[in-house]
Amino acid sequence: MKKTEVIERLLPKVTAASASVEHFAPSNIALCKYWGKRDQALNLPVNASLSISLDYLGSFTRVEPVENGVDEVWLNGHQLLPSSRFSQKVSAFIDLFRRDQDLHFKVDTRNNIPTAAGLASSASGFAALTLAMNDALALDLPPEHLSVMARMGSGSACRSLFTGFVEWEMGVREDGLDSHGVQLEQTWPGFCIGLVEIDAGEKATDSRSGMQRTVETAHLYQSWPLQAAADLSKLQQAIAERDFELLGQTAEQNALSMHATMIASWPPLLYWQPESVAAMQKVWQLRAQGMQVYFTMDAGPNLKLLFQQHDRAELLQHFPTLETVEPFGN
Ligand code: ADP
Ligand code: DP6
Ligand code: CO
Repeated sequence: MKKTEVIERLLPKVTAASASVEHFAPSNIALCKYWGKRDQALNLPVNASLSISLDYLGSFTRVEPVENGVDEVWLNGHQLLPSSRFSQKVSAFIDLFRRDQDLHFKVDTRNNIPTAAGLASSASGFAALTLAMNDALALDLPPEHLSVMARMGSGSACRSLFTGFVEWEMGVREDGLDSHGVQLEQTWPGFCIGLVEIDAGEKATDSRSGMQRTVETAHLYQSWPLQAAADLSKLQQAIAERDFELLGQTAEQNALSMHATMIASWPPLLYWQPESVAAMQKVWQLRAQGMQVYFTMDAGPNLKLLFQQHDRAELLQHFPTLETVEPFGN
């Protein structure tokens, strides 16, 4: 279905924008990954996914109406050229909200995580922009519709509207109105995520084209939906029972399975650097010594460690620069 038809069902027509609003949205890390679309225009996924939101790490986005007939986009304090891909994606997303109205905005966004490095900046970025547009246009959308809007900016953004553990239900509708994030009620005090930064630079292949290439060229991808479905139920069980070993094993295997489909694409897609592999081996070594630490990785060279608060001090000795987040406190 066309985006414009979906928007007709979702948003009221707007006529005016209010002064200046700012919103924050967290980045999120998938434990069961979203990899592959059944509808590229609407970002409808092939499989359901499950993530954890990163608390204070994410995007702050301010929008305010401007009179000069074009959108102005600022990232981390610098104005971007209107012809840049970043600006164009932001403007195309704002088009969904403004429809044919002559409304333009200054968008000033700041990421406190690296941009386009596999740390889910597209998730926090489009979630924060959705919240800001919702306010600027006084749309008053319910959470699941905010999530649907954010999804159309970047799939993973539909999970960043919520905190804690979030499932993205894939939905069955053609218009995608049932494909959005749902916050799980469970919490997990002491659950920690650690970011191992290998390279904060912009990746050569963005997630969008990476997943499309995988779907189109990797035979191995055929097994992915089955793997993802099995992993999703294991993760739900692990969260319900606070079974850390089951959670860690499932998340790590899920991530490596996704990377296997990437490597099996043509041209091959390998987001890892030698230091990424060294960090994986260090995690396996620590596990062999009895520590419950696991990793997950997205479309980038950086690792995200999953561990528990009581192992934090010892883990920091092995990964001294680890940035840690405790989404549920300790
Ligand atoms: P990541 O792993 O960081 O999510 P992606 O390749 O998925 O990398 O997406 C990166 C793209 O997300 C950027 O090129 C830009 O288009 C968009 N993006 C990143 N941060 C923001 C932001 N704060 N506001 C709007 N869009 C953003
Ligand atoms: C590997 O949501 O960034 O991080 O929908 O095309 O914008 P688009 O892609 P994006 O893909 C994220 C892929 C992933 C896995 C995940 O976050 O679930
Ligand atoms: Co992304």
